[in-house]
Order: sequence, then C-alpha cells, then structure tokens
Amino acid sequence: MQLDLTYVNNVAIGAAYAGATILNHFLGKLTSVQKKGPSDLVTEADIESEKKIIETLRYRFPDHQILAEESGLSRAGESGCLWIIDPLDGTTNFAHQLPFFSISIAFAFNGELLAGVVLNPVSGELFSAVKDKGATLNGHKIQVTNQEKISESLLVTGFPYNNREDLKPLMIRFENCLKAARGIRRLGSAALDLCFVACGRFDGFWEENLKPWDTAAGMVIAREAGAKVTDFSGADYALDMKEILATNGLIHRDMEILMGI
Ligand code: IPD
Ligand code: CA
Ligand code: CA
Repeated sequence: MQLDLTYVNNVAIGAAYAGATILNHFLGKLTSVQKKGPSDLVTEADIESEKKIIETLRYRFPDHQILAEESGLSRAGESGCLWIIDPLDGTTNFAHQLPFFSISIAFAFNGELLAGVVLNPVSGELFSAVKDKGATLNGHKIQVTNQEKISESLLVTGFPYNNREDLKPLMIRFENCLKAARGIRRLGSAALDLCFVACGRFDGFWEENLKPWDTAAGMVIAREAGAKVTDFSGADYALDMKEILATNGLIHRDMEILMGI
C-alpha cells in the first residue's frame, strides 16, 4: 500500500484543530467532571473532543483502526493503519482552568509509528513530525538541546494516578534528579512534556505508568527532533512499556543512573 504521510499528517493536524475547538468551547464552562479513579478525571470535553477527532479521521480514512483513550479500540480493519488519540492530555489542568493541556494524535502503520501531532489549543503551539522528515513547532524545525551536564539540565516529570500506595520508588527517583539537576518541573501533560524535550525547553523527561495515547505522538516528535527515548534501563521505548525516559541523548546515561534504584 502506498501511504502519503504528508497527507496523513495534514489530516491529523485538521483533526487536532477540530478537537481544539471543542476544548476551547468547554474551558471554564464544564458542567460534568467524573472520576475514572480516585484522581483520574474525565469530563464532557474529553468525550466531545474525542468524538470530533474520530469523526474527522473517519471521514478521510474509513477503514483505519482507532485507539482512543475514552472509547478504546475500534474497527479491526485490515489496512494495518492505526490512529492513537488522546483527546485531552492534561484533564486535571483543564478541570482547574489551568491553560496547559493538549490534543495528541499519532499514526502507525503495521505497528510502526510514522507521524505525530500535539496541539496546545490555548497557546496555539502545534508540534508535528513525520518519520525521517524531522519535527516542527508551528512549521519551524526543532531539535533537542546540546546540554551535556546533568547539573545544568532542566528536567520535567509527571506523577502517575495509579500507584499512590507505593510511592517510594517514585520519590527516590525524584530525589535523585532533584539533587543532580538544575531543576524539575511538573506541568501536567505528558504529550507536551515530550514536545518540550523535542524543542529544547527541557533536557530530559521521565514518567511511569503512562498509556500509549499519552506518549505515541510526543515520542515521534521527540525522536525526530533528535531525542533518545527508552525505558529507565535504556531499552528502546515501545508503547506498551511502563516507563519512559526521553532526553537530548547527551544526558541519557546519567538519567538512567538516576532512575536506577
Ligand atoms: C495525564 C497527563 C499527565 C500525566 C498523567 C497522564 P490525562 O493524562 O499526561 O501529565 O502525568 O500520568 O495520565 O489523564 O490528562 O489524559
Ligand atoms: Ca493523557
Ligand atoms: Ca486524556
């Protein structure tokens, strides 16, 4: 099958903007916030954004499979094409009217991630990448930093919803990084965290227990911008992994040591 990845990417961008219209509509006007877990929220904005994104993709690609956070896996097509969607990454921020969240859409063919788009509807920043074509922010090429020193690095992380019982390993990693790096931020959208490594705002990112829709698009963008993306022990990151470590490559080994417990 001949795949036009530029077209695929443009459709993803259109779908992301369609989702953004929904998110902007609901921002500050939510009437329904529900809990999927003790601290894992879902709102009408998540649901409606996802519907709109899927509708937009389906219109162009009726036979593609879709994996989306709120509705799961749909249509077991034969095409080998799969879309991976987070209709609102940063729901907690959104529910608290903190203007830092994103829409994340990735495309894979026969299990290989080939394109990714992450859009922050508030700032208007659109991160995009196609495999082997590099990554862009609002159309301009981006790349990771050339920082070699962990002591001068700015790092970002996130805290998983589902392991609040055993926080020890998480806190040890946090402490290790806090001692070694210039600083750590926790912004609340893993997709944007990865994009911020890609464009050089952060030198490294780590988190555990993320889901494929949190990382798929950001990972393509980060890798295309020169990032190294692995698990905590340095194995190439795959979407079913429980740990993700993304850096500029130069501080990767140091970060792996900081992740080791
Ligand atoms: C969450 C965000 C957050 C990360 C959480 C994710 P959601 O996604 O990416 O930064 O720390 O682990 O679940 O639930 O807002 O789509
Ligand atoms: Ca998410
Ligand atoms: Ca989400």
